[in-house]
Amino acid sequence: MNPNAIATVHAEKPNFSPAGVLGALKYRYATKKFDPNAKIPQETFDALLEAARLAPTSMGFEPWKMIVLTDMEVRQKLKPFAWGAQNPLDNASHFIVFIANKRVDVTFGSAYLDHVLKEIHQIPDKVYDFFQEAYNPVLHEGLQHDGIRTCRL
Ligand SMILES: Cc1cc2nc3c(=O)[nH]c(=O)nc-3n(C[C@H](O)[C@H](O)[C@H](O)COP(=O)(O)O)c2cc1C
Repeated sequence: MNPNAIATVHAEKPNFSPAGVLGALKYRYATKKFDPNAKIPQETFDALLEAARLAPTSMGFEPWKMIVLTDMEVRQKLKPFAWGAQNPLDNASHFIVFIANKRVDVTFGSAYLDHVLKEIHQIPDKVYDFFQEAYNPVLHEGLQHDGIRTCRL
């Protein structure tokens, strides 16, 4: 299997009402304290992972990976580097680390970008060349940081 493979999505037009969307946004909140005895059901967690996977980025490259951290020892070691996540690292049933692809992975000609652009987006060579010229100046750090920011939102 291609290690860069990204699953594509086929979806029906959803039937959301404006009130339903606003209701969900009003209901949502950032959890600050976690019950160590509570566990997110697998089906819900899978949906959350899929929601993160579907988050868009400015160029459609989605240059991130997610690691679901279950090992409590590793979670403790992460604490000095994650000041905003002290309580969840101790108590949340699931903890996801978002990792930006390395600079080399989001460079034109890399296996990852070629897979995204040629196999998923299926853009013609001419457009690939145009993208390369247009995007190269803003790639690398900017793209990595944008990707991670977008994904966690
Ligand atoms: C970009 C971003 C980064 C955040 N980082 C943290 C964080 O490191 N730790 C944390 O406990 N909450 C974090 N939050 C959650 C905010 O504290 C929270 O969304 C804000 O207080 C508003 O509360 P609400 O989301 O419950 O309405 C973050 C939110 C955003 C949008």
